[in-house]
Amino acid sequence: MRKAFICALALLMTAGILALAFFEKNAAQAQQQRAGGKKEFSSKSKDFAEGTATPSAECGECHQAIYREYVFGFGSDNIRKRSAYKDPKQKLRSIPARLLTAGSAHSIAGNDLPPGTEGKSCNTCHNPESFDLPDLDEPEIEPPKARPQGKESFGITCAGCHLTPDGRIRGPCRAEAPHETVEEPNMKTAAMCARCHLEGKRVVGKRVQTFLEWRDDFHKPGLGSQQCQDCHMPGTLRRLTENEDVPIRAVARHLWTDGRYPQRLSGALSLVVEAEKESTSALNFHVINIGAGHSVPTGSNRRAIFLKAEVVDPKQTVVAMREWMFAPWYDDRPDDKSFLEEDKKRPDSAAAIQADAQGPHETIIRAGEERILTWDPRLKPGEYEVRTSLIFDLNRYNDPKFRGDQRTIFKTSLAYRVR
Ligand code: HEC
Ligand code: HEC
Ligand code: HEC
Ligand code: HEC
Ligand code: HEC
Repeated sequence: MRKAFICALALLMTAGILALAFFEKNAAQAQQQRAGGKKEFSSKSKDFAEGTATPSAECGECHQAIYREYVFGFGSDNIRKRSAYKDPKQKLRSIPARLLTAGSAHSIAGNDLPPGTEGKSCNTCHNPESFDLPDLDEPEIEPPKARPQGKESFGITCAGCHLTPDGRIRGPCRAEAPHETVEEPNMKTAAMCARCHLEGKRVVGKRVQTFLEWRDDFHKPGLGSQQCQDCHMPGTLRRLTENEDVPIRAVARHLWTDGRYPQRLSGALSLVVEAEKESTSALNFHVINIGAGHSVPTGSNRRAIFLKAEVVDPKQTVVAMREWMFAPWYDDRPDDKSFLEEDKKRPDSAAAIQADAQGPHETIIRAGEERILTWDPRLKPGEYEVRTSLIFDLNRYNDPKFRGDQRTIFKTSLAYRVR
């Protein structure tokens, strides 16, 4: 009994001393902060004198996990081989480069431009100078300025998104760092993506309208509360840097999952096939945008989704087939062969001709939209099965027989009878 009492007393005293030490430490920290004292870091950061041309590997020395996502797609399901990121000053030995996954599109945005674009407008989005974040409601959102020639070709670096025009690093965390930081709550909103994922004014159906498709079709009408980051930068809990004693925070993975990520694509569309009446062979195909916060397919006019339907009889012979293509228009009007002559006079003739040569097609499926396509294969009475699939194509202009850049995202079939 007496022994137990002494033990309890000893425990209480230890707890008291620990509590005292804790309060003293906190008081000292508070005093340091009141006196404007800075948190001590074991490593020093450079001043990023090269601005947005600062190699991302420099940031990656401290922010290793984020760098690994950005440059190697670590944590994604993008296992297509793409041109590897070549950073002239890359010197990170601690990060394994022999990985299954391929890097994010942002990390290669400077290597993706064809020759002859030096100093041209392309570099505004692909090799940007520091920019301010716009208001979400701004009627006209300008692209960033291009980096001066000679500093191009680094692509969209870490500094490209994080460096403010006055030379500080913006972030959403209110963190103190070995570099100057500024709190920017809008980093968690579509404002961060708006300047580049938008070309010109809204034209429903046109290419690179993603931000406006999100704002006007999805966000404003209240179809969902997600910002771009919520779908394209999945979160995790971790420290922002590996070599400092900093708190664990909610971090957005720097992956920007796109059409090369099966998980991203598979949730975009749904397809329902319906044979309404037995008196005819007419079919309805409902293509429904259930998963994207913008039109599908969005962005580059190279993208397309094909809906393929074939009807087979009981002997498995294909008796009818049909195909539709959903794709962004190249210009402010539907792609059309009748413009081919006019296109020859354009400065961008090659791109315009390529698009118009494919002729008219279905427009892209807007956020929340259900597109109904009807087709009557005019079949004789009998038993049939209609087999359908949705196929995503990264580049609709290459040889249609080349399947390496295609992915089936939905497959379904329906047995039906025509009387
Ligand atoms: C400085 C301009 C810029 C900003 C800011 C920007 N992007 Fe991008 N983004 C691009 C460019 C350019 C590409 C294409 C790179 C390439 O493939 O060469 C791209 C590619 C992508 C892709 C892949 C698209 C594809 O077709 O492969 C996704 C997804 C994406 N961005 C999402 C986002 C999100 C989400 C944000 C905001 C958090 C954002 N981007 C901010 C310029 C930008
Ligand atoms: C010498 C190491 C080091 C280097 C180099 C470095 N950082 Fe940091 N950074 C830190 C530390 C430490 C923090 C604070 C972490 C915390 O408190 O969670 C931080 C915080 C941040 C934050 C969060 C700021 C906030 O308040 O949300 C961002 C964004 C960031 N860094 C971006 C960058 C970029 C971009 C570069 C390269 C241009 C870079 N960092 C280079 C160490 C570094
Ligand atoms: C295309 C723009 C873009 C690029 C490029 C980019 N970031 Fe970020 N970064 C963001 C956005 C957006 C957030 C805020 C995401 C959120 O919290 O919702 C962010 C957040 C962060 C944070 C704070 C943690 C968090 O997730 O909120 C750090 C640290 C950071 N980035 C470092 C880096 C580093 C290092 C690189 C280069 C390897 C880099 N970023 C490249 C857009 C970018
Ligand atoms: C509700 C989830 C969701 C939201 C919010 C969202 N996206 Fe997407 N995004 C998707 C899905 C699903 C796809 C795949 C289908 C497609 O390519 O259209 C996609 C595709 C893309 C692509 C094309 C990728 C490619 O390879 O062709 C880009 C670029 C893109 N999103 C950017 C953005 C931007 C920028 C925002 C915010 C303005 C945003 N997304 C908001 C779900 C979302
Ligand atoms: C307003 C910003 C902006 C400008 C200006 C711009 N791009 Fe892009 N570019 C993008 C975005 C965003 C993407 C990602 C495609 C998407 O939205 O899916 C992209 C993607 C690309 C791709 C990759 C397409 C693919 O299939 O993955 C190439 C190549 C490209 N752009 C070339 C160019 C060229 C050449 C120019 C100049 C004539 C140019 N870009 C001007 C924003 C821009």
